[in-house]
Amino acid sequence: MSKVTVVGAGAVGATVADNIARKELVKDLVLLDIKEGLSEGKSLDMTQTASLLGFDTTVTGSTNDYSKTANSDVVVITSGIPRKPGMTREELIGINAGIVKGVTENILKYSPNAIFIIISNPMDTMTYLALKTAGVAKNKIIGMGGILDSARFKCYLSAAIGCSPNDLQATVIGGHGDTTMVPLTRLATYNGTPVSNLLDADTLNKVAADTMVGGATLTGMLGTSAWYAPGAAGATLVESIIRDEKKLFPCCVYLDGEYGQKDICLGVPVVVGKNGWEKIIDFHLNAEEMDKFNKAADAVRNMNNVLATL
Ligand code: 2OP
Repeated sequence: MSKVTVVGAGAVGATVADNIARKELVKDLVLLDIKEGLSEGKSLDMTQTASLLGFDTTVTGSTNDYSKTANSDVVVITSGIPRKPGMTREELIGINAGIVKGVTENILKYSPNAIFIIISNPMDTMTYLALKTAGVAKNKIIGMGGILDSARFKCYLSAAIGCSPNDLQATVIGGHGDTTMVPLTRLATYNGTPVSNLLDADTLNKVAADTMVGGATLTGMLGTSAWYAPGAAGATLVESIIRDEKKLFPCCVYLDGEYGQKDICLGVPVVVGKNGWEKIIDFHLNAEEMDKFNKAADAVRNMNNVLATL
């Protein structure tokens, strides 16, 4: 595999691209945006870091010329408007649905075999829309939310425990929304020991609550969506595909009976490799976790139904 395209040269897209270049995941990296000069400028800026950071990836900008994206192995879609303070991810659907649909169609003309990673919000519904628009194998469409939310979960857990986030295993499934995320606190461990051995119930509940509004908290501070963690999370997903790492991540994928849900894209633990998401892992949720997951599914399904009205 040798080529990745990132669509959308805003803060998230550019940070995904920056991380891909730094890790030298591919030879060719294309950054595409509709705003004249933006992707070219950011690509040139990144290119000028090559000798400083020691990578050989070629970064090319494109103002809406999809022919430059031809034969991409992986395409990351970040296009659309980000949320402003006080807005939910769901409020973006009207504008972003049209953008994500158009981008998906344009990409497919030049890269019919690409694996798609969707970051645009509302991410669960945009992933479902991309899948229905593309009509490709379900394994090739992956929504990026759970990796980011799990990184935030580990961040808050590590602060509460006073430990390295790298010694934590912690997963967020369900939707990528302030009320639809399901942090799996019961299954979180500090190098194998349940975090409940280290933290009391009130602290664990606060960590889960902070995780769920992790993006909103940053939007309140920044005036727009976050980008460092979303960008790093997007590149981590690209890395597992390009290097065929078979890593286990929570990702938004099409469910056909798994976790008791059908005809919906929602976050569950999946193995990610060169074929996209390759298998869903059953975490054996208890009744309470399953109830939260089903409520998330109901909310995301309601949002998916809005697509038909646009
Ligand atoms: C976030 O949670 C951008 O949805 C993304 O920060």
